[in-house]
Amino acid sequence: MVNVLGIESSCDETGVALVRFERDEPPRLVTHALHSQVDMHRDFGGVVPELASRDHIRRLIPLTRDVLGRAQCTLGDVDIVSFTRGPGLAGALLVGAGMACALATALGRPAIGVHHLEGHLLSPFLADDPPAFPFVALLVSGGHTQLMRVSDVGRYELLGETVDDAAGEAFDKSAMTLGLGYPGGPALALLAEEGDPKAFALPRPLLRGNGLDFSFAGLKTAVWLQRRRLGDAADRQTLADLAASTQAAIVDVLIGKAERALEFTGIQRLVVAGGVGANVSLRQRLDAMVSKRQARVHYPGLDLCTDNGAMIALAAAMRWQRGLAPAQGSGLAFDVRPRWALADAGLS
Ligand code: KG4
Ligand code: ZN
Repeated sequence: MVNVLGIESSCDETGVALVRFERDEPPRLVTHALHSQVDMHRDFGGVVPELASRDHIRRLIPLTRDVLGRAQCTLGDVDIVSFTRGPGLAGALLVGAGMACALATALGRPAIGVHHLEGHLLSPFLADDPPAFPFVALLVSGGHTQLMRVSDVGRYELLGETVDDAAGEAFDKSAMTLGLGYPGGPALALLAEEGDPKAFALPRPLLRGNGLDFSFAGLKTAVWLQRRRLGDAADRQTLADLAASTQAAIVDVLIGKAERALEFTGIQRLVVAGGVGANVSLRQRLDAMVSKRQARVHYPGLDLCTDNGAMIALAAAMRWQRGLAPAQGSGLAFDVRPRWALADAGLS
């Protein structure tokens, strides 16, 4: 039995988890704990990196104690320490990397630095209905929107990505325009439930082209212009209509590109991961799209869609099982990679 501790601190959530596996058996989640900094950053309308780093320092040790306590383990039972090495906020990453590498050194165990997006795209392997390789992954988070062909752990080929804003950013910035605060994705989705998705004609950027790249900056501007045109007199129903129309435009683009990626690769399995993957409208439309194509779609559980430590421990465990996980650095040295392409985090 191998116990993997996972530490996530790349942005505004502190996540710690314990994942366990036996030899070649699929790893399973023992328990995980999360602290979201959303309340702390709300007043600033976005993540303040320095505050994020300081809060990760405050939270990591209590969360680790909590996880080990609930798993009825002690630090001595931890066999591998994993952490998010990048991409993300440099200071925030350093907190998790520093703690993980110190812990690993003190325990005489290996430390494994994981790519954050690898964590997201492997996260459905902790669900009841895990995918098989190969699959197409649609990664939709606050910072990334990518389509990847995933042939195996560590074999990632980029098919397309956003040329400007990420899908989560389009949700968040449109929500800000609608006065819904930060982070706006879930709030916009909630308001959209009361609105008419056809009320406003908004652009579906790059949807008609043949490529697999995305662009959301123009849509964000169109929402802003609409909101300005409506002026102060706009009532709640009108704003709900604009929210619903915005969500429909984002979802239309994601569905269209995901379908094209399935067509292009000839693969019948789609994995959807990252915070925007929690969006109910997106899930309903994806379910309909794959069933029309007699394909399958796999999601992580709703609690593992947004950032968490479980996906980091899982990715480390899957790498370790395949002999793909070199220990981090040599001696007492460690580093983080705030900018890091997933394709570069492949086989090593
Ligand atoms: O993966 P994630 O937790 O963090 C990053 O790695 O970026 O994704 C966060 C993003 C935010 O933009 C948030 O607004 C969005 O996911 N999000 C949603 C929903 N839940 C989270 N967007 C739309 N609908 C949701 N239900
Ligand atoms: Zn993320």
